[in-house]
Amino acid sequence: MTPELLEEGARRRAAYEARRAAQAAGGSGGRAAGWGRPHRAAEPDFTHGVALYLDEVSVSFDGFKALNQLSLAIDVGELRCIIGPNGAGKTTMMDVITGKTRPDSGRCHFGSTIDLLRLSEPQIAQAGIGRKFQKPTVYEPLSVLHNLELALRADRRARAALTARLNGAQLARLDELLTLIQLRGEAQREAGLLSHGQKQWLEIGMLLAQDPQLLLLDEPVAGMTDEETERTAELFLSLEGRHSLVVVEHDMHFVAQLTQGRKKVTVLHEGSVLAEGPLATVQADERVIEVYLGR
Ligand SMILES: Nc1ncnc2c1ncn2[C@@H]1O[C@H](COP(=O)(O)OP(=O)(O)O)[C@@H](O)[C@H]1O
Ligand SMILES: [Mg+2]
Repeated sequence: MTPELLEEGARRRAAYEARRAAQAAGGSGGRAAGWGRPHRAAEPDFTHGVALYLDEVSVSFDGFKALNQLSLAIDVGELRCIIGPNGAGKTTMMDVITGKTRPDSGRCHFGSTIDLLRLSEPQIAQAGIGRKFQKPTVYEPLSVLHNLELALRADRRARAALTARLNGAQLARLDELLTLIQLRGEAQREAGLLSHGQKQWLEIGMLLAQDPQLLLLDEPVAGMTDEETERTAELFLSLEGRHSLVVVEHDMHFVAQLTQGRKKVTVLHEGSVLAEGPLATVQADERVIEVYLGR
């Protein structure tokens, strides 16, 4: 596929998302839908220090409770690791935050003003929540640089500039992103030729190009080599403070590197929080040991 086609694709996608958002906001043809433009969500307010707040969120699938009164708060700039056995509800939690799954009950706020349950998936992304899925989804035939450039052009605050040349600030940002994801030396390389770990970093760079306040990362180091895992931890630690990060991960060595012996870890089990505290403390918790060993 040519870059022009991809850009055309991105433009159509933006238009489609805007139409969908307008439908979601306007119900069956409300004013917003009539005007054919998306309902503009209020700007998130982080002045109270809370980035994300879940309150008694429940989700059932055919009577099975994947989330059971889950409550959780993430601070602005916090890096929170979430662990828990398979089936604990970790991915479902991310599905709820990003609008992919609607809960049966509970509340879900972004900052102190935005009710995520009232927004569509594109509106949530636009409000500043970025999600990294397990499989990297980069444009393989394009160079690393071009991938990042496309992501920058799709900047939620710069949609109007989709066809314009990148401005000075955007070029500087590209440069900064390449350094951050440690792919400066690979800028001209086809993304398809990168290692698995490098593709993951590129995708994280593409998420960062949208400047999300909150990043959700589901098993980001699965399939990475030890060295790549270590570098990923360094990358996340460098993002902490500027962004809030929620990292779901099974690799305890990685979690230990991220939490540095002091940060809070949340243990999910059967759709709710089983324990919360420093990694060593929750790992010594009898109930936590039981759910990990019990299966
Ligand atoms: N779309 C779905 N339909 C039915 N059951 C689901 C669906 N998504 C998740 N589940 C179930 O919900 C539970 C939690 O799943 P998940 O959130 O993927 O757990 P985790 O990510 O912690 O491993 C699992 O038992 C899973 O089978
Ligand atoms: Mg999962």
